[in-house]
Amino acid sequence: MATLITGIGELTTNDDERGRMRDAAVVVDGDVIAWVGEASAAPAADERVDVDGRAVLPGWVDSHTHLVFAGDRTAEFEARMAGEAYAAGGIGVTVGATRAATDDELTANLDRLADELLRGGTTAFETKTGYGLTVADELRSARIAATRADSVTFLGAHLVPQDWAERGGPDAYVDLVTGEMLAAVAPHVEAIDVFCERGAFDEAQSRRVLEAGRAAGLALRVHGNQLGPGPGVRLAVELGAASVDHVAFIDDEEVRMLAETWHGGTGTVATVLPACDLSTRMPLAPARRLVDAGAVIAIATNCNPGTSYTTSMAFCVATAVLQMGLTVEEAVRAATLGGAVALGLDGDESAAAPVRAAGSGERGVPDPAASRAGRARLPLGRIRPGARADLQ
Ligand code: NIG
Repeated sequence: MATLITGIGELTTNDDERGRMRDAAVVVDGDVIAWVGEASAAPAADERVDVDGRAVLPGWVDSHTHLVFAGDRTAEFEARMAGEAYAAGGIGVTVGATRAATDDELTANLDRLADELLRGGTTAFETKTGYGLTVADELRSARIAATRADSVTFLGAHLVPQDWAERGGPDAYVDLVTGEMLAAVAPHVEAIDVFCERGAFDEAQSRRVLEAGRAAGLALRVHGNQLGPGPGVRLAVELGAASVDHVAFIDDEEVRMLAETWHGGTGTVATVLPACDLSTRMPLAPARRLVDAGAVIAIATNCNPGTSYTTSMAFCVATAVLQMGLTVEEAVRAATLGGAVALGLDGDESAAAPVRAAGSGERGVPDPAASRAGRARLPLGRIRPGARADLQ
């Protein structure tokens, strides 16, 4: 059934030619945008919805969350606000609570947060494992995540669990992650991720995790350069990751590298997480510099119990504009199309151009050879009949 949307105050198309349109109308047929154009030229449809001057834009795509967890870390947040630094060790608190929770408790918490996220205008989201850290608990987390998320990422390499200190240490734990754990979880996920940071996994360990994931046919993601300078961005670029997330501590050379990945139609999305940067009192990721250099960026919430307890993409977009120096249009694009590209959800007939500064480079052409395990692909860059997208 086709629905004609009229009375649109402003339509964000994410399309370089059309940009933001006034006096526009949209026809939605099922979950497909069938037509976009001047309201005066709108075709007939089965029904008509007048949105009374509201803005119409693509749904938010939240490409980085950690929603399968139990427990509470309010005390850690309060201590941080009183001056303590964020340390990755807090992850262990959530791991203990998650392992102790029942399936029903984990599912109920995921449902609560996913519902909240959808009520806030998010129409697609990714979520990760990473608070189980045993074969059984990671498998359980992946299965539960898949009940709600559009894309699930395996993050067995989130932290070396405490009990592994006596069981061979980090390298032995990486053996488990890249062996038995990956084999169990891979059929339930689209991507693999590693927390490449001092206090978590070093470059060699991160490389092993990513190479094993790639061999298993998974897309690659990296938590990189969150708490300080490090090898995360370079590794992500070298291995052709779909995204590298956080990117708070990156220099001009790393900005350039991220921009240059986009030659040939595929590349690595730089995902900025403004709510996390604020909550951990870290420097804000240099979103302005990334966009100016021609990198493709995404904005995501990073909703998790330790560093970013929000499901609000609107808050993240507002922060990216107010604090990171993006224009409204750039931030909306990064929070919609940018996330979709990072997750490979943009589709061959996708509705927009990549998140680039105007004139910063040619729009790429999708690489038909780019696979699930490859880099993110640039979309075609047009709204056209049959283009898939969501409206909020
Ligand atoms: O993306 N940095 C690693 N992982 C999460 C934090 C997880 C936690 O502290 O529980 C993040 O910020």
